[in-house]
Amino acid sequence: MYRTHTCGALRIEDKGKEVTLAGWVQTVRKFGSITFVDLRDRYGITQLLFNESLNARLDETPLGREYVIQVKGTVIERSNKNAKIPTGDIEIEVMDFAIMNIASVPPFTIEEDTDGGDELRMKYRYLDLRRPTLKRNLELRYKVNRAVRNYLDTQGFWDIETPFLIKSTPEGARDFIVPSRMNEGQFYALPQSPQTFKQLLMVSGYDKYYQIVKCFRDEDLRADRQPEFTQVDCEMSFVEQEDILQTFEGLFKHVFYDVKGVEMKEQFPRMTWDDAMWNYGNDKPDIRFEMKLQNLKAEGKVHAEVLNQVDFKVFAEAETILAICIPGASEYTRKQLDELTEWVKRPQIGMSGVVNVKCNADGTYKSSVDKFFNEDQLKSLASFCNATTGDLILILAGKETRTRKAMSELRLEMGNRLGFRDPSVYKPLWVIDFPLFEHDEEENRWVARHHPFTSPKPEHIALMNDLSRYAEIKANAYDIVLNGTEIGGGSIRIYQRDLQEKMFAALGMDKEEAQEKFGFLLGAFEYGAPPHGGIAFGFDRLCALLGGQETIRDFIAFPKNNAGRDVMLDAPSAVDKKQLDELSLEQKIG
Ligand code: AMO
Repeated sequence: MYRTHTCGALRIEDKGKEVTLAGWVQTVRKFGSITFVDLRDRYGITQLLFNESLNARLDETPLGREYVIQVKGTVIERSNKNAKIPTGDIEIEVMDFAIMNIASVPPFTIEEDTDGGDELRMKYRYLDLRRPTLKRNLELRYKVNRAVRNYLDTQGFWDIETPFLIKSTPEGARDFIVPSRMNEGQFYALPQSPQTFKQLLMVSGYDKYYQIVKCFRDEDLRADRQPEFTQVDCEMSFVEQEDILQTFEGLFKHVFYDVKGVEMKEQFPRMTWDDAMWNYGNDKPDIRFEMKLQNLKAEGKVHAEVLNQVDFKVFAEAETILAICIPGASEYTRKQLDELTEWVKRPQIGMSGVVNVKCNADGTYKSSVDKFFNEDQLKSLASFCNATTGDLILILAGKETRTRKAMSELRLEMGNRLGFRDPSVYKPLWVIDFPLFEHDEEENRWVARHHPFTSPKPEHIALMNDLSRYAEIKANAYDIVLNGTEIGGGSIRIYQRDLQEKMFAALGMDKEEAQEKFGFLLGAFEYGAPPHGGIAFGFDRLCALLGGQETIRDFIAFPKNNAGRDVMLDAPSAVDKKQLDELSLEQKIG
């Protein structure tokens, strides 16, 4: 037997027991004729005491960091207790030990705080995973996985696998494609999600489906995006939007309670997409704090009457003017304000400047546009913004889309600076009534806002005949947002062939193309497709937020870096010419 206990198991009650432990050497500390070793495994750390009788052997075969050893010994009470670790009351007085494997000196310290940089730790991910931080994250991930499965099981869902080698179909992002050896010149695609399969399972009558499944998207990466990521993918038949929201709000609450002990009793708030954009400037508002956008002017329409009284070219020419009130910031210094101006000028934000109005404690106003606004006008501007004494009003003006996005970013930034975005506070939110289409400016065409299988609101179907009204059409689509992150999204689907064909046509696909790409789905809709709908949660994102972080990478055992590379495997990499020949592929470069 390699071990009787793990390195996290023994307590003072075990005093006197003879035990065998195995694990990795974390530290070796020699004090004259005795040596202390911290032995680590997944479960914790136990201190080992090598006394005089073993020291000669230790001198002959010294232990190094990360050596794998086995020790036999007796549990004794420690004279110098360590309250920080669960095994801190005891140590093992070693009687015998064996080195099971030696180890090279690790390239960084394997402790809570490490000296290793990102790239290095990614390269030696298997060592980084020994660190308690990552271990806790993976443990959390496992617990979330278990909680999700338990809940869905009680609700009657079946876990059904769907294939990874599928047909390339447009779903939003770019596909990863895989050449087929047996079908020369043809390619599979890796699924961006199991969307069409889960709909086909509904046609097959498996009315409650789920899967915790890998999805693949070749898109630009960010802190909360990986090229392969995991979804909790779900679908149900004979449901309306309300049924879906109820069922998955239940899942969310169960996971929070099970994993974090957080009870969420209240129904999650719901906000329409229009309201989210108007009040927060984006469709995934962080509602841990207010600081709503004040729409002084939007899409050319003036809402703050005072703007009509002033002659300020920048405001007159702007399509949209938005403000936020920063509580208690009226005493910002010149330097702080200059720094904010620099912040909004960063390329990611892209504004040319920010106007400020200070609502001073003595009831006066001071602004960066004093030349154009008199005291009364500043007062009415402040009143429109619902500003109170001590507030600093920040104003951005420009093109609608960019200004709204910039203001939403500035709001989040100020929320961070003021400590309003506490990661231990959880504020979930349903965003509903999304638009069915969105205009792709680059390609100058309408694309599906969610995906082409999402149903329009029945009362808006008629508008699909009029291109000029596409922006007005709302979908039966919803997102779940947690602390400003989109955690999940879904919709009630189209399940009639004619409506699905109408949708493909609206997206600029002619009949042949629709048949070629989605014939399988259109065909299935002719054999008794039930009304259905579903949702998919970003599993990595959910885990990261439950772990109090926004970056998903450290909640995935073997993630890719920001360039989509696995630096440990050194993938992607070139392949042999022979492999290319087998696939009838020729390499253009390299
Ligand atoms: P959607 O594309 O909104 O919906 O994806 C669902 C959720 O998956 C997460 N997510 C990601 N997480 C990490 N890295 C990525 N690259 C990434 N992309 C998406 C997000 C998102 O909310 N088939 C539909 C679902 C449905 O309609 O039922 C779909 O995939 O948290």
